[in-house]
Amino acid sequence: MNILMVGAGSMSEALVRGWIASGLSPEQITMTNRSDLTRLEQLRDELGVQIVETEDVNAYTIVVLAMQPDGVLAYAQSQTWKTPLLVSVAAHIEPSELEEAAGIPAICAMPNTPVAHQTGMTGLWFGPETDATDRETATALFDRVGRTAVTDAKTMSAFMAAAGCSPAFFYEIVGSMTPVLTEAGFDEDTARQIVAQAMKGSAELLLHETRPTDELIADVAAPDGPTDRGVGVLRSRDLSDVMSSALRESAKEDHDPVDATIERT
Ligand SMILES: NC(=O)c1ccc[n+]([C@@H]2O[C@H](COP(=O)([O-])OP(=O)(O)OC[C@H]3O[C@@H](n4cnc5c(N)ncnc54)[C@H](OP(=O)(O)O)[C@@H]3O)[C@@H](O)[C@H]2O)c1
Repeated sequence: MNILMVGAGSMSEALVRGWIASGLSPEQITMTNRSDLTRLEQLRDELGVQIVETEDVNAYTIVVLAMQPDGVLAYAQSQTWKTPLLVSVAAHIEPSELEEAAGIPAICAMPNTPVAHQTGMTGLWFGPETDATDRETATALFDRVGRTAVTDAKTMSAFMAAAGCSPAFFYEIVGSMTPVLTEAGFDEDTARQIVAQAMKGSAELLLHETRPTDELIADVAAPDGPTDRGVGVLRSRDLSDVMSSALRESAKEDHDPVDATIERT
């Protein structure tokens, strides 16, 4: 397998870092961009990847389009595609549009930057022209850097909201909890690490569980104990309504401008 990354911005770098950490050789990865050669040279020197200024897309088994969304279809149209599996990570591009522009099977992936640490969450929207091998190849590639979920036209907005907004929602929650620890005497960094590590461990446990979250809460919240009383406060203030409303707001498709967390990417 050899991969060409077209675009060398933050998402491209995050994926490349994750793939190298997962065991892919930097020699299997080539990066290119539009004009910023200094950036390419930095990535080559730091990560050991190959760089090219002029690319032959058919010299690679997988080509990942990682430029801003407004350049994706024009780039796809500008090339003569033969062999590679074509993957775009651009928001708001549909695989059928990409297949029409490129004339080959295509997949739209929606990763998030934790892929750099192999803890990403990537939505995969398979184009109608893809076959089982294409789907397996793309799934295996993104499974290397976290978890994947199959998405489509109906689910992509909710997926993007959950995967894209969760970091901000999580930081908001951690930020609201740490003052209790600093008031008790911890410094800011330690307070943040305590809450983040406890949350990380909880997320890890949750990923290995299939029981409903209510049951998991009951496991750790003895009646009238400290956790139970804290959960009581969350419920009396309707945290559930706050969180679901926040996610619904972020997942709205008719909002203009489009959700800033994805728009900015
Ligand atoms: N960042 C995220 O968290 C995130 C999450 C999910 C999806 N995405 C998607 O990932 C894509 C890239 O986002 P980003 O944040 O990495 O953007 P970015 O930092 O602005 O990087 C964009 C890169 O694309 C290159 N580029 C632009 N047009 C090109 C072209 N025609 N040919 C080759 N390279 C070209 C740019 O090169 P020059 O600098 O030389 O112009 C730059 O290296 C976007 O489509 C975004 O929707 C991002």
